[in-house]
Amino acid sequence: MASGRLAIAATAVLVGTLGTVGCSASRGESGPTSVVADGASPGAADSARRHAGRIGAPGIGDPDFPTDGNGGYDVDRYRLKLDYRPDTRHLSGVAGIEAKATQDLARFNLDLSGLKVGQVTVNDAAAQFQRSGNELIVTPAKIIPEKSAFTVKVTYAGEPKPVRDSPNLGTYGFIPTADGAFVACEPNGAKTWFPGNDHPADKARYDFEITVPEGLTALANGELVGEPSTAGGKTTFTWRESHPMASYLATMTLGKFELRQGKTAAGIKNIAAVDPRYQSSLDSLYTLSGKITDYWSTVFGPYPFSSTGGVIDDFAAGYALENQTKPMYGGFKPGDDIIAHELAHQWFGDSLSITRWKDLWLNEGFATYAEWLWSEHKGNATAERIFRSHYSAGADAAIWKYPPGRAKPEDLFNSSVYTRGGMTLHALRQRIGDPAFFTLLKTWNADHKYGYVTTEEFVALAEKISGKQLDDLFNAWLFTPKKPTTW
Ligand code: ARG
Ligand code: ZN
Repeated sequence: MASGRLAIAATAVLVGTLGTVGCSASRGESGPTSVVADGASPGAADSARRHAGRIGAPGIGDPDFPTDGNGGYDVDRYRLKLDYRPDTRHLSGVAGIEAKATQDLARFNLDLSGLKVGQVTVNDAAAQFQRSGNELIVTPAKIIPEKSAFTVKVTYAGEPKPVRDSPNLGTYGFIPTADGAFVACEPNGAKTWFPGNDHPADKARYDFEITVPEGLTALANGELVGEPSTAGGKTTFTWRESHPMASYLATMTLGKFELRQGKTAAGIKNIAAVDPRYQSSLDSLYTLSGKITDYWSTVFGPYPFSSTGGVIDDFAAGYALENQTKPMYGGFKPGDDIIAHELAHQWFGDSLSITRWKDLWLNEGFATYAEWLWSEHKGNATAERIFRSHYSAGADAAIWKYPPGRAKPEDLFNSSVYTRGGMTLHALRQRIGDPAFFTLLKTWNADHKYGYVTTEEFVALAEKISGKQLDDLFNAWLFTPKKPTTW
């Protein structure tokens, strides 16, 4: 749809520029294409005809983030070969992208911010490319037929810069630190360090080959493949995330790190890493991450990935991020509540991904509620008590004005998405009772493992499992700008 509209717009501009026919005439028998064909530039007309409907959209279709992600293809795997020098802040990279066309593609986009592109190939043949804002526009030598698999290779280099979007989103993306880089990309900062389809609606597997000066450690998602190899004063770390992952969960955090590796009591590989400044927190990060991963596996269903763990870096981000398999804590020692939150995201947000940012409560409301469940499990305040304390906010409180079921792009991480999102789940638990509620959490996970979810699907499943009509509850809690009175 979007590409069709684009092609029509481009034709209209062409006709207008030639100025040989009036607007009404251009809609007549001869039509815009033949007008152009009779003109001075038959080549352009040919190419316009060939390309009509074959141009990948510049956005994946999220109305709140119209240029995030791209249309026309699905990425299956990224192979990122990256070399970073903290002293010069220079990154050089080769991004291999294995994708499948979802339409004929005469042209398609990748998201990339800054950095200089040297070469692009498609199926090993040189391709033309242009830059426009955060879009890298690729024109392959041959049209890629719908449904066919294709590979793209982008060679690029430069100084990666974070996205600075404060106060709403803070600083995110590739953030240089004193000894390396802190890389946390929610919602759309992957484009600051590799070209790709930067939106959670297109998850892919990742291979990382990251080279850093000897003595530093490069961390990425998943597990190490083989031992790091050192040559000529540089060390290369190869990591592989073999489960589908949203681009905002990918990381290449690097610097001086202390590592502790082992297994959780239930046998899941556990990798904790801390900046030397947080050395005294390494054991607690490792131990708590292991315990909590095992506990959530009993509540939400089997852990979806091949390893768990966490990273504490010394960049004061003011937030943590649920990077797949390796949540990252920006400049603070995390307590068990926030570890419980980030690890709950491995199920809600990472294994199950939203396809539109407006549904963010499916990530943050669930992870917040998980903090309350952890508190209850530890014999501290019950979820009911925490719910009550938030519910005591007066009718004028900001949280009641922001319905969390539709996160606002200009205020995505509003505390309502977290807290009122969590309260929604508690209201639901009250209504349907513990057995149905906890069956729902497990079924929700099992049904959509490694996939995509929407709020409508959650409401439908809650109704199916409980056998209750729940429109009133979800409408009041998720979609009404006023203090709910039902649960
Ligand atoms: N998803 C993270 C959490 O709540 C928050 C990420 C905030 N991102 C940002 N750019 N400020 O665990
Ligand atoms: Zn969160």
